[in-house]
Amino acid sequence: MKVLTTIAEFKKARRRIDSTVGFVPTMGYLHEGHLVLVRRAKVENEVAVASIFVNPTQFGPKEDFARYPRDPERDLDLLKKEETDLVFMPSAGEMYPEGCSTWVDVLKVTERLEGASRPGHFRGVATVVAKLFNIVEPTRAYFGQKDAQQVVVVRKMAADLNMNLEVVVVPTHREPDGLAMSSRNVYLDLQERQSALVVWQSLNLAQQLWSQGERKAEILRQQMTDLIRKEPLARIDYISIANPETLEELTEIKQPALVSLSVYVGKTRLIDNITLRK
Ligand code: PAJ
Repeated sequence: MKVLTTIAEFKKARRRIDSTVGFVPTMGYLHEGHLVLVRRAKVENEVAVASIFVNPTQFGPKEDFARYPRDPERDLDLLKKEETDLVFMPSAGEMYPEGCSTWVDVLKVTERLEGASRPGHFRGVATVVAKLFNIVEPTRAYFGQKDAQQVVVVRKMAADLNMNLEVVVVPTHREPDGLAMSSRNVYLDLQERQSALVVWQSLNLAQQLWSQGERKAEILRQQMTDLIRKEPLARIDYISIANPETLEELTEIKQPALVSLSVYVGKTRLIDNITLRK
């Protein structure tokens, strides 16, 4: 496994590869959810590349950039065990040198949900992902369904800007009790970790109501709200039942629907989602 920290070095290594490249962009502090993406990239491509970069531009001024968990040595160990071929691990100065003034702004699909709660977040994500795609030049890039809106935004960017790659989406990897794996789960203390289960329980409730024939989005939202409100440490940021492609809110669920939510458990903001489909 080769670890490269500069763009020039990475591009040099990339020029020597003429086979398929599978790419997994990450912000590090890797968990099994990330590693599932790496395994998919390895199975489907001759060369597997991962990046580790805590991207400052996707964090709001009051968000957790400074305290976002970091453990590059452990990350590299894990990537080595997965037989990752190349790891790109740049500094912030390497990715955003003085005078950098170009942004990628995906409109419309970034207006709601995470985009509404975290202004500027997807501008940072789209910009860094576009830069990483230009550096890595992947055949396929792997993203987790855990960040459902991120997938929609990256797909739209790749299509609108005629990017030469395939975006592959991998199902959300969960802890045995259902909590979606996330680097941010380390922020949870024991009691909060228990309370966090209500996120998954509320999604199960939506799935159950839908399976029983409920088609009114408002009823699903209300039932989820009632369940989460019973958990004293949890506070709802949003609950959405939307068209999975446009992310527009639905009133009648007549098509596949993305049920997604953001909940604060203590000070930690968790997100999760499921898709209801026939
Ligand atoms: P990060 O949160 O580190 O996630 C990297 C990738 O792993 C994303 O595609 C994310 O959806 C996926 N992932 C995280 N938890 C997952 C889980 N439990 N199951 C399946 N996939 C999971 O997302 C980012 O970083 C950044 O926004 C990034 C795309 C790297 C741009 O900075």
